[in-house]
Amino acid sequence: ATPPLIDRFGRHVTYVRLSVTDRCDLRCVYCMNEQMTFLPKARILTLEEMALIGRAFVELGVTKLRITGGEPLVRQNVLSLFAELGKLPGLKELTLTTNGSQLARHAVALREAGVRRINVSLDSLRPERFRAISRVGSLDKVLEGIEAARRAGFEAIKLNAVPMRGINDDEILDLVEFAAERGFTLCFIEEMPLGELEGHDRYASFVPSDEVRARILERYTLLPTVERTGGPARYERIAETGTLVGFISPHSHNFCDNCNRVRVTTEGRLLLCLGQEHSVDLRRVLRTHPGELEPLKEAIVAAMAIKPKGHEFDLTAKPVLFRHMNATGG
Ligand code: GTP
Ligand code: 5AD
Ligand code: SF4
Repeated sequence: ATPPLIDRFGRHVTYVRLSVTDRCDLRCVYCMNEQMTFLPKARILTLEEMALIGRAFVELGVTKLRITGGEPLVRQNVLSLFAELGKLPGLKELTLTTNGSQLARHAVALREAGVRRINVSLDSLRPERFRAISRVGSLDKVLEGIEAARRAGFEAIKLNAVPMRGINDDEILDLVEFAAERGFTLCFIEEMPLGELEGHDRYASFVPSDEVRARILERYTLLPTVERTGGPARYERIAETGTLVGFISPHSHNFCDNCNRVRVTTEGRLLLCLGQEHSVDLRRVLRTHPGELEPLKEAIVAAMAIKPKGHEFDLTAKPVLFRHMNATGG
């Protein structure tokens, strides 16, 4: 049997997030600036290179691959990558996180490529506000995308919301209701300080998960559940609706001890922690040994030795990671 990927702290890496583009058709205030410089094509991996990286990980025991971005659906021909990865024996889950704006066009094809669960970001249900948060997005398009996903018959749809004080924190219950009515899971994410931002003060708008949870408890009963999706969310079941609500709380309930994942950036940088710079350049390995699996696998195994204990996000100190979320893939 192939040796599984285990780091110095005994954590098994079974989940890989592959970012297929740093580009996005939105400009969410917590993620990007209005003006962004995107990577030139020569620096980003080809879809063939990404497929090979996916295969290397799966042969090393990874069972879950999530395609991320930027917005994965703006990458030309990305469906061919899903088709390629979907064939890998040993892979239990192939999925993506999307902003939903182009989902209406792609939902059926994604379902046919074997995607069973899908995560869609949704920070507001009010058109003007949605526009303000995403700077250029259209709520209607995203809602159409979500509807298309529902019709396409995904086994689960998870919505992600980043609650922000004075921006959308008065919509917590509306979002819960929206998700519950449709049988979706809803996750609230504590904002993380990735990249210097203009026009958004993430420290002033930070809302801890406990506060979100308290708002939900004003209307609903939350029941403990053992439900897990292999990601960082802690879930509870809403008694009145039977649906799940999740909390991703890197600040208030650090989950690094149970970390099971790594991510690969659009440039082929294997990042061992979202909140640290420890990384290995897989693009160099790929371009020194084109099409070869073994050198890639060796580099990935060796990288386990530098996976850090966890992030050191600090909400009181200003220095942030230089990398923006879109260049990182969550
Ligand atoms: P599931 O498979 O549904 O559990 O997905 P997920 O929650 O792992 O993925 P998703 O793309 O929906 O991510 C939700 C949020 O979790 C995003 O803000 C990610 O940046 C964040 N996230 C995912 N993995 C990590 C991690 O290892 N560390 C930190 N700090 N945040 C993470
Ligand atoms: N902090 C927390 N979540 C973020 N996302 C993007 N940037 C940040 C950030 N700085 C969210 C998106 C998407 C998910 C992949 O990450 O809203 O749902
Ligand atoms: Fe695009 Fe996602 Fe970043 Fe919003 S959070 S700008 S949708 S990559």
